[in-house]
Amino acid sequence: MPGDRVRIGVLGCADIAQRRMLPSMCRQPLVEIAAIASRDPGRAGSFAARFGGVPVTGYAELLARPDVDAVYLPLPPGLHVEWTLRALDAGKHVLCEKPFATSLTEAQAAVRVAGERGLLLMESFMFLYHAQHSAVARLVAEGAIGELRGFSSDFGIPALPAGDGHPARHASTLPEVAAYPVRAAQLFLGDGLAVVGGYRCAAGRFGSQPSGAALLVSPSGVTAQLRYGLDHGYRSGYALWGSAGYLSLDRAFSTPDEHVPVVRLDRGGTVEDVVLAPDQQFVNVAGEFARTIVHNGDFRPYGEAILRQARLVAAIDELAGATR
Ligand SMILES: NC(=O)c1ccc[n+]([C@@H]2O[C@H](COP(=O)([O-])OP(=O)(O)OC[C@H]3O[C@@H](n4cnc5c(N)ncnc54)[C@H](OP(=O)(O)O)[C@@H]3O)[C@@H](O)[C@H]2O)c1
Repeated sequence: MPGDRVRIGVLGCADIAQRRMLPSMCRQPLVEIAAIASRDPGRAGSFAARFGGVPVTGYAELLARPDVDAVYLPLPPGLHVEWTLRALDAGKHVLCEKPFATSLTEAQAAVRVAGERGLLLMESFMFLYHAQHSAVARLVAEGAIGELRGFSSDFGIPALPAGDGHPARHASTLPEVAAYPVRAAQLFLGDGLAVVGGYRCAAGRFGSQPSGAALLVSPSGVTAQLRYGLDHGYRSGYALWGSAGYLSLDRAFSTPDEHVPVVRLDRGGTVEDVVLAPDQQFVNVAGEFARTIVHNGDFRPYGEAILRQARLVAAIDELAGATR
C-alpha cells in the first residue's frame, strides 16, 4: 500500500456513496479512492469526476485491478454477500454497507472466507464511530441515571414522495431500518443479548410499508425494546432508563456531520441538556477500516460483530414468524 493509504475501489454508484461515504473518504487521509465501478459507464465517469479515481465499467473489471487494495460495497442488500465473496476471492479487503447479509448462513460463509484469506471484512455501521455514543456511555458509567434498567430505540423513515403517476416508492427495506436499533442495543447492553419477542406488521396493514418491533434481554435482565418501520414519521434515536433518571438522544444513527448532538437527562423532573461537539461518523468509519488494514490490526472482532448482528436478526425473524 503506497504511502500507507488504502486504495479503495467502489462497487456501485449508490445514493449513500455519493451523499455521505465518498465525500467523507475524500476527507479521510488514510484512504485514496482509486477506482469507481458502475454497470453504467456514464455514471462511473460522473462519480470519478466528483470523487477521484479511475472510472470502471463493471464490478468484476474493478476487482481485477492490481491498484485496488480494498472495496467499498454499497450495493442493494441482496447483492452484498455475492460481491463480498468475489472481492475476497480477488484478494481485496471489504467495507460493506449494512445489512451485511440477508441470512445468518450467508454471513457465516463470508466471515469464514475472510478469515481464511486473512482479509478484513467490516459492516459499515458508521454510527458506531460517532463520539456522541461514547459520551453517552461515559455519562451512564458515571451514574448519571443510576443503575441501568432498560434501553429503547426507534428508527423509521417516511415514505418517499410519489413520482409522476407512480405510487410512493421506497429505496429501503425493513431489514435496512431494523439494523440500527438492533446494533445499538448491543452497543449499550453488550454481546449476550437474547431475543424474547418479535413482531412484523405487513405492508398495507397500517401504512404502505412494513414495520416491526422486538424485545431483547441482557444476561443481567436489562431489556431492549426496539421499533422500526418504513412509511413512518422520521425517528432515529435511543433512550436509556435507569434507577435515577432517563437519558435520551435523537439523530443518533444517520447523524449529519454538522449536527450538534444534545443528550437529554431527565432526573426526577429536572431536565438537563448536555450539548456535545459535532462529529464525522463516515470519515471515522472509513478511517477505522483503513487504519485496521494499514496497522495490520486484529480483523476477527469485525467478523464476530457481523455474526452477532446476523444471529440476533435471524432470531427476531423467527419469533416474528410469517408477516401479519
Ligand atoms: N449507511 C447509511 O446511512 C446508509 C443509508 C442508506 C443506505 N445504506 C445502505 O447502503 C446500501 C445501498 O443503499 P442506497 O439506498 O444507497 O442504494 P441505491 O442508491 O439504490 O444504490 C445501489 C447501487 O447498487 C448498484 N446496483 C447493482 N445491481 C443493482 C440492482 N439490481 N438494482 C439496483 N441497484 C443495483 C447500482 O449502482 P450502478 O448502477 O452504478 O452499478 C446502484 O446505484 C444498502 O445496503 C443500504 O441499506 C446505508
